Amino acid sequence: MRHLIDIKDLSIQEIDELIKVANDIIAHPDKYSEKCHNKKLATLFFEPSTRTRLSFEAAMMELGGNVIGFSSASSSSTAKGESVSDTIRTVGCYSDIIAMRHPKEGAPLVASIKSTVPIINAGDGGHNHPTQTLTDLLTIYREKQRLDNLTIGLCGDLKFGRTVHSLVTAMSQYKNIKFVLISPEELKIPEYLKEGVLEKNNIEYIQTDSIEDSIAKLDILYMTRVQRERFFNEEDYLRLKDYYILDKEKLKNAKDDLCIMHPLPRVNEISTEVDDDPRAAYFRQVRYGKYIRMALILKLLEIE
Ligand code: NCD
Repeated sequence: MRHLIDIKDLSIQEIDELIKVANDIIAHPDKYSEKCHNKKLATLFFEPSTRTRLSFEAAMMELGGNVIGFSSASSSSTAKGESVSDTIRTVGCYSDIIAMRHPKEGAPLVASIKSTVPIINAGDGGHNHPTQTLTDLLTIYREKQRLDNLTIGLCGDLKFGRTVHSLVTAMSQYKNIKFVLISPEELKIPEYLKEGVLEKNNIEYIQTDSIEDSIAKLDILYMTRVQRERFFNEEDYLRLKDYYILDKEKLKNAKDDLCIMHPLPRVNEISTEVDDDPRAAYFRQVRYGKYIRMALILKLLEIE
């Protein structure tokens, strides 16, 4: 039985295969509409979500399966003091696969040890978010027709942004990837990723706090929200929350084929005036999230 806890659980070949299947689902959705007949997905969300939970649920429904679950810890027995392990053992009696999001780093890994069904990490605290990364990879592939030879700017909260952590880990495995890491001093990418992923794989990267200085060379600009819920005090959050606001003016020197991404939700970091720019890919990115999750569910359930 396979789980997806960390993007490293998948080889590059497996990721490429998932992207291939997702592209086939987009082209021939009817072929897949009964693949998960009689299967149930449980979505256990101990933390807020719109896209991740609903895209998982839509994905299972479009595969002909069913969905059960909860969308807040307060409406589950967690509120009575039940452990994650006990909740997972219980839900495994009612479902074939579980997608779970939890505020504690490592909770999905703990859950997977006791689980009788595949566990998918749908975000664990400020740590990882592998299915957002699969979404991002499919988006990059669809927008740029390649996953190598790219200069990728990651901007905003690189410290607490789990989508950034998983994306850096995945993209570091492709050829000729360069990163421009754009953040205020306080929100730089964690050392364990700098040393354990970027430097270990000899990836070229620069750290800067300016979008303007680096935007001209980017193929992809991945904006992120400052992660309010991970801050220790509100004062720091208020000081940093509007550090970057991408607008038309800042895009003046960008490439014509720049791809602007954001895992969403957006707060202020991309001005709505950018939404009509053909380079703004973030709502297309939302759509791709459903298809890649369909491909992932099929893989983990071992359905051809
Ligand atoms: C992200 C997350 O939950 O980490 N959202 C998502 O899953 N699309 C990003 C965020 O919350 O800022």
